[in-house]
Amino acid sequence: MKAKLFINRNEEIGKIDRRIYGSFIEHLGRAVYNGIYEPNHPLADDMGFRGDVLSLINELNLPIVRYPGGNFVSGYNWEDGIGDKSKRPTKLDLAWLTTETNQVGIDEFQEWARRAGTDIMMAVNLGTRGPDEARSLIEYCNSETNSYYASLRRKNGFEKPFGVKLWCLGNEMDGDWQICHKTAEEYGRIATETAKVLKWVDPSIELVACGSSDPNMPTYGDWEKTVLEHTYDYVDYLSLHCYYGNKAKNTPDFLARAEDMDRFIKNTASLCDEIKAEKNSNKTINLSFDEYNVWYRTKDEEKQMERWQIAPHLLEEKFNLEDALLVGCMLMSLQNNCDRVKIACLAQLVNVIAPIMTENNGSAWRQTIFYPYMYASLFGNGTTLKTQVECDGYKSKEGWDIPYLYTSTINNAEKRELIVFAVNRSLTENAVLYTNFEGFDECRLVEHIQLYHEDLETTNDKNEERVFPVSRKIESSSSAVLKKHSWNMLIFNY
Ligand code: AHR
Repeated sequence: MKAKLFINRNEEIGKIDRRIYGSFIEHLGRAVYNGIYEPNHPLADDMGFRGDVLSLINELNLPIVRYPGGNFVSGYNWEDGIGDKSKRPTKLDLAWLTTETNQVGIDEFQEWARRAGTDIMMAVNLGTRGPDEARSLIEYCNSETNSYYASLRRKNGFEKPFGVKLWCLGNEMDGDWQICHKTAEEYGRIATETAKVLKWVDPSIELVACGSSDPNMPTYGDWEKTVLEHTYDYVDYLSLHCYYGNKAKNTPDFLARAEDMDRFIKNTASLCDEIKAEKNSNKTINLSFDEYNVWYRTKDEEKQMERWQIAPHLLEEKFNLEDALLVGCMLMSLQNNCDRVKIACLAQLVNVIAPIMTENNGSAWRQTIFYPYMYASLFGNGTTLKTQVECDGYKSKEGWDIPYLYTSTINNAEKRELIVFAVNRSLTENAVLYTNFEGFDECRLVEHIQLYHEDLETTNDKNEERVFPVSRKIESSSSAVLKKHSWNMLIFNY
């Protein structure tokens, strides 16, 4: 198959906010315990954080990590995770039907984040709790005063405030699985009042209100509008969450979910703008896509498991090449919508639907999805340009026209580089991609990284990394062969 890519230097979508390459650590399964934290592991550091896991995380150059949930946050008492570890209570976590030992809390997590070179995106509990504990938490984290919670932080050994700049007002409050699920009216009110007290304590923070937990929620649309009617003047972003799966074993359709994500983003941006117009506001609400990934094999696992275990194997999705292709496309969708999406979190980071896996007291390794994520974070920086592609295609189950190639192009003006990300969704044909760049001095292809395996179901595990990126030989300065069902990154110098 022949494909043509057209780029015009003047057709910019927007500058990428690096926070779209964020991730997420929830107190869930083995994400925290035996994931980032395992004090008895031979590679644990002085605080019990696994050094091998930190090294893999460092490869990703993460701008932000959302914490501590997820569903977990809606039943969490943050005060249980501070101060003397021997005095911390052990509690039942009703979100995942497990036992929380509280050996890691914000005291430890902020230090882990520092060691991982990342910032925290903090979620507050708007399920069982509300504005009162949210204001105490931000006082503990960010205040330099001599007030009770700021002094408590100092007493616990942290002289300097943690300086958490990004805060989520609850999690997935539209879902009936959420502890203390709310109607849009109820959530809109509590989110507004919480937003006010948080910003009164620290006016420099940014706030994210909960949008829908999936585009197929029956309340999608109405939820966004009602929540924004209440919160518009008090928040900065609206969240989107979405997980895709291939239960039907229909790969072309699964890979077409990239267009579904595009549509979800564009529709949600329109909903924000509808309220903007209604309020005659000059403020724009941008988007925080703070949970996305492939997730279907391990859904609802907690319901079948023995209850109240500590750090059980939960949601340990084993990703194959096909999943990496879709995650690669989802990252491109975020880049292509960077005019509105300013924050995004791959859910999650370690063991729980994660690019990084660990064995208790053993090794750590990279899943297939690690690679498109790493390359997007390392190279997808600059200004996204509109990419126009001419190639063959197919129809999705909705009857949409799906081109075989899904692409994004980023102009890194500082480095004089054009970075083209591309997934070839054809299951049978390689694509010869010819490029046409307008407005640039001569562009020369200098690097072609490809993720490919003959078998789309191939996975990585602790014994062997079978799906890994390969640097392809450059045969021409303006074209490249994108193998059937492969993910690619092309770097052009100009
Ligand atoms: O990431 C796993 C779970 O998915 C999160 O806890 C929740 O917010 C979402 O439903």
